[in-house]
Amino acid sequence: MAEHPAYPVGLRLTGRRTVVLGGGQVAQRRLPALIAAGADIHLVSPEATPSVEAMADAGEITWHRRPYAEGDLATAWYALIATSDTEANTRASAEAEAHRVWCVRSDDADAATAWTPATGTSEGVMVAVLTTEARGRDPRRTAAIRDAVVEGLRDGTLVAPHHRTRVPGVALVGGGPGDPDLITVRGRRLLAEADVVIADRLGPRDLLAELPPHVEVIDAAKIPYGRFMAQEAINNALVEHAKQGKSVVRLKGGDPYVFGRGMEELHALAEAGIPCTVVPGISSSISVPGAAGIPVTHRGVAHEFTVVSGHVAPDDERSLVDWPALAKLTGTLVVLMGVDKIGRIAETLVAHGKSPDTPVALVQEGTTAAQRRVDATLATVAETVAAQEVRPPAVIVIGEVVAVGPRGTA
Ligand SMILES: C[S@@+](CC[C@H](N)C(=O)[O-])C[C@H]1O[C@@H](n2cnc3c(N)ncnc32)[C@H](O)[C@@H]1O
Repeated sequence: MAEHPAYPVGLRLTGRRTVVLGGGQVAQRRLPALIAAGADIHLVSPEATPSVEAMADAGEITWHRRPYAEGDLATAWYALIATSDTEANTRASAEAEAHRVWCVRSDDADAATAWTPATGTSEGVMVAVLTTEARGRDPRRTAAIRDAVVEGLRDGTLVAPHHRTRVPGVALVGGGPGDPDLITVRGRRLLAEADVVIADRLGPRDLLAELPPHVEVIDAAKIPYGRFMAQEAINNALVEHAKQGKSVVRLKGGDPYVFGRGMEELHALAEAGIPCTVVPGISSSISVPGAAGIPVTHRGVAHEFTVVSGHVAPDDERSLVDWPALAKLTGTLVVLMGVDKIGRIAETLVAHGKSPDTPVALVQEGTTAAQRRVDATLATVAETVAAQEVRPPAVIVIGEVVAVGPRGTA
């Protein structure tokens, strides 16, 4: 065969007879894409792997339990030849050639009339990679290129803004606890497509530095507002930018709905008739303890964990937390926004029955380069926080789980 590159094309196989010879690993790998394409798949093989058999049982393919026989390919549109019998493969590909059926051969790519590209999909785009060299095909290289492109599209590091359907309105994106790797794939992609990003102090700040220069980054803490007007000012900024037809990302720390005021922003946008999508994030309440080697549950130790806000003291009339009830729980207590009030919180828990020896850990700036963990007990936590100068943001974990991991594992 001449040394020309393959001609790329997308086969529309829906309802079209597609014959697969051989029910082994090759078929197992290729069948899902053929099924997804809606092909009328006929598998000809005396045996099949359990996964292939399951596809037949599920009615996704028709399985003819016998070896290849002359005539199997006569009415096919497309064929995959992948039996372990080279002689049968050669006869089958001769038949395919005679009937002008495009055919892939797993045992001899040079003898095939078609090659399967390395494929992957992301957001409505299929990436298919073939090498241009007719000889010297390199499946590992094509797979690596496919992976790089698909990953880049998924995580937003490869952006094609002019060809994308941009998300209209606002995306409330949970950015995770701070490590830029801990945002979701969807969140990162939306960030890469944004015209305007309104970011909190917490969350993956490092990602902002990667945004292209045309993206307007607004620090939510610096939006001018009067006393108690912060949230309203942020809501207004979201609405105003979205009304200008821009793609706006509201980048929040952790998850938007865990002490994140996400629903207030969503309501404000709904009132203004602006479409809003919410992207969950990894909450600091679980991930920050985890990053410091503390599981929020542990078999035989804690069968529950409760996440509470400590931003107002237990005796403050604005507090909605039932601290006496929490003192009676045996599980883990995770306190966010509680550094300033930890003395009063510890006193209240002890006053209502929790042991003063209950272990406490404070994890400051978890998942970032500045992460540090300070350990204490309910009896000592107030003085420890003062002596060690623990500062927000910190997640406070109260309970026996603090002691189950090797100290300081991350
Ligand atoms: C307003 S709340 C927002 C919580 C966020 N929505 C979440 O799901 O993680 C802010 C509090 O979260 C905690 N926090 C968030 N990120 C943190 C981090 N990287 N390290 C320690 N604490 C963190 C602190 O208790 C901080 O005061």
